Amino acid sequence: MAFQEDLELLELVEPTVERLITEHRERRKHWYFHDLVPWERGESFKDKPWEESQATINERARTALVLNLLTEDNLPYYHVTLEKYMPEGSIWREWNGLWTAEEGQHAIAIRSYLLTSRNCDPVELEDDRMATMQTGWEPKWSKPAELFAYTTAQELATRVSHRNAGKITEDEDAFELMRNIAADENHHFVFYRGVMTEMMRVKPTAALEGLWNVLDNFDMPGVGIPGFLRRSIEVARAGVYNMRIHHDNVVQPLLNYWSIGDMTGLDKKGQELQDKIMALPAQLIRKAERFEARFA
Ligand SMILES: [Fe+2]
Ligand SMILES: [Fe+2]
Repeated sequence: MAFQEDLELLELVEPTVERLITEHRERRKHWYFHDLVPWERGESFKDKPWEESQATINERARTALVLNLLTEDNLPYYHVTLEKYMPEGSIWREWNGLWTAEEGQHAIAIRSYLLTSRNCDPVELEDDRMATMQTGWEPKWSKPAELFAYTTAQELATRVSHRNAGKITEDEDAFELMRNIAADENHHFVFYRGVMTEMMRVKPTAALEGLWNVLDNFDMPGVGIPGFLRRSIEVARAGVYNMRIHHDNVVQPLLNYWSIGDMTGLDKKGQELQDKIMALPAQLIRKAERFEARFA
């Protein structure tokens, strides 16, 4: 936490954070992953080693679930990122504890599903987890407004990606599990969007700067995952997550929600950021079209 103005911004939004935590606790009902994992399908890997022919869901769905799982596995790094910004003894720490505990169930649940249903190579998955977690993850940005712009967009993107991954499995158990996880991501998204909304109100230029820095070249936090590029192209082609979905379900809805284009009373820097952010959707569509043309 380097700058006084960053601390001030965090302090200014603390009352809102307190309200958002209360609302989150009221809204989210805890679910138990043991209820959703199809244990009855499980068999010993000692007696019956894994072979690809045992998989029951299509290859693209398996790739999507593994990619989403490895992203969830990196939770310790996301926790540390949040902790860096949250002054000790503040209400922020309560949120980070709660959020981390809820997120922790996601990797446990997806891994349990994949192993009991034999829809992944258990050795490869474990090797990939080891590699992913040793690489870790570090954000490119360093300001609170960037952190909350990122977590807002990222939770929404993850909600969409988990939901779509569950859909393409065509497997009732996987669908139900991913639906529950996606519901959690939605609760987290609502929290982070609420923080960002308050930042837009109290320090609009700083908030717009954070939003611009994050949305211009937005990265999913999976770059340290082995074969990330190949895997992300596969999930993009499968319609789990791609540039068009990013535009339609993440960027455009966020710009609409905050009415970025209609914000008034901004200083000169704020107005410049507003223009740059409003030009993003058209750029994303052009990228989406190029991707689609390449793989048509
Ligand atoms: Fe998650
Ligand atoms: Fe989440």
